[in-house]
Amino acid sequence: PASARRDADGELSIGGVGVSELRARFGTPLYVLDEGEARAHAARIKAAFDAAAAAHGTKARVYYAGKAFLSTEVARWVTQEGLRVDVCTRGELETALAAGVKPSRIGYHGNNKKVSELERAVEVGVGAIVLDSAIEIERLGAIAERLGAVQRVLLRVNSGVHAETHDFLATAHEDQKFGTPLEAAPALVERIREIPSLDLRGLHCHIGSQIFGSAGFAESASRIVELHAALREDGELPLLNLGGGFGIAYTRADDPTPIEELATAIVDAVAAECEVRGIPIPALAFEPGRAVIGQAGVTLYEVGTTKDVSLGDRGDRLYVSVDGGMSDNARPALYGSQYSARIASREGTGEPVLVRVVGSHCESGDVVVDHEYLPSDVTPGDLLAVPATGAYCHALASNYNHTPRPAVVAVRDGAARVIVRGETLADLLGRDAGIAAPAEAAP
Ligand code: LLP
Repeated sequence: PASARRDADGELSIGGVGVSELRARFGTPLYVLDEGEARAHAARIKAAFDAAAAAHGTKARVYYAGKAFLSTEVARWVTQEGLRVDVCTRGELETALAAGVKPSRIGYHGNNKKVSELERAVEVGVGAIVLDSAIEIERLGAIAERLGAVQRVLLRVNSGVHAETHDFLATAHEDQKFGTPLEAAPALVERIREIPSLDLRGLHCHIGSQIFGSAGFAESASRIVELHAALREDGELPLLNLGGGFGIAYTRADDPTPIEELATAIVDAVAAECEVRGIPIPALAFEPGRAVIGQAGVTLYEVGTTKDVSLGDRGDRLYVSVDGGMSDNARPALYGSQYSARIASREGTGEPVLVRVVGSHCESGDVVVDHEYLPSDVTPGDLLAVPATGAYCHALASNYNHTPRPAVVAVRDGAARVIVRGETLADLLGRDAGIAAPAEAAP
């Protein structure tokens, strides 16, 4: 985060809180979220889309995609910055509601929402449910009718654009599970319009995640507007949701397009296609997750061991083992994601050497930072900081090898507080039916 500084002794502080204090108070591994940074990204993204939309005389809504990281605290930060919240499970919905997010400012996603989830979403009055299949149209129509509600919905379509990103993160090409192909959309729209308990507001498309360039977004937007224009002939369609997916820099090698440029390119593409089709520009919606929270997060680890491994004529590699790993950050193992690392508790003095930062789990793919240079004197007890872990790290965390999930601490103006408490061994063992609590074990 921008607030990261080295003090005179070389110790790193984040949001004005020294990492040694963070270790002493909260232990490691620890997820640290810089509140100021998260709010600044939320505000900047909102301003970028507001400005791009205003330039064409329309409005933009920005939803924070809670799947990247959600807690009540973070939901409050982003809503205070003017964002809405997009959820995709009952758990995310309840978290947003518990944070006091107005139901009308919540969007609900998913390719297989449970009946109970849809019922709850309709009951609380969620602002938009994104329909993903013909079966779900019928299912939600019946639920809303039974509950005496008229539910606002969008229909998710695939623009057919294959985003330039990891295969697992691309979501708008033909052969994947989300949404409906463009050609199939008109029949589904017709069906939605026949159901009195459903109020179709518009189309939705999300091409993928961690995308750096604007071309895929712009191409997708043009294709969707073409469909939007055709469907407008038989009924109103005031909204167009173009999803999220705006990439961030994880290492110095990453060079994502600034959000202002992306916003302008996407909205310009919508406006151009609307002009060709001779239709007014609809209100637009976007759903960034990673771009809001990713760079606000830093994970702190403690070094446990180091080990020199010879790579023959390619020199040596120092393996630096830390007290976390794929249980708190699955992204390197899942997507081959690259991160960086720094010694945080002091400034190292040795020459930079090639290191691989690895976790403590029982498999060799348990890598935290694949390729990095750290001072050669990196040693047990040092704190390592791994930046840009705010998105999809805590969200994807697991208990692999019976590892408790770390706490999340927010820092701001020199103060730190727990926003998600860490799991304890008691939490973990308490789930084992053979280790019953004494009261429950009694006859
Ligand atoms: N909208 C929809 C419908 C989505 O499916 C997603 C992400 C987003 C918005 C937000 O995308 P973002 O702005 O955060 O890129 N676990 C993967 C990322 C999976 C993204 C899933 N959908 C990772 O760690 O990279």
